Amino acid sequence: MRTMLQSLNRIMHGLVAGDLVMVEEAARASGMKATIDPRFEQKLPPSYLQLGRRVHTRFDQLADATRTGATRDDVLKRLAALTGYCVACHAAYRLEETP
Ligand code: HEC
Repeated sequence: MRTMLQSLNRIMHGLVAGDLVMVEEAARASGMKATIDPRFEQKLPPSYLQLGRRVHTRFDQLADATRTGATRDDVLKRLAALTGYCVACHAAYRLEETP
C-alpha cells in the first residue's frame, strides 16, 4: 500500500517537473511486480485479489503509456481512473485483527 502511495506522489512530482522518466519509474514500481506474496493471496477473497491485480495493471499501463509518449493530460486521465480503484477498495474492505 505504501509503495502505491509513494508511486502516486512521485508520479505527480514527475508530472509537475515535466520529468516523464520519473513518472514511468514511479508507476512501474507499483506494477504487477509489486503484487503480494502468493502464500498470503490464498487468504484473501477473489474479488479483492481481482481489484488488486487491476490497480497494479493500471500502474503498468501508465508506465507503458508514458514510455510511448503519452501527454500530461493522458497521464492525468489515467491517474484519475487508477485512483478510483484505491477509493473503491478502501470503501469495500477493512483489515481486522482476529483475537
Ligand atoms: C484491493 C483492495 C485495495 C486497493 C485496490 C487499494 N488498497 Fe490501500 N488498503 C486496502 C486495505 C484493506 C487497507 C487496510 C486499511 C483498512 O483496514 O481500512 C489499505 C490501506 C492502505 C494504506 C494504509 C497502509 C498503512 O501502512 O497503514 C495506504 C497508504 C493505502 N492503502 C494506499 C492505497 C493507494 C494509494 C491505493 C491505490 C493506488 C490503494 N491503497 C489501493 C486495500 C486496498
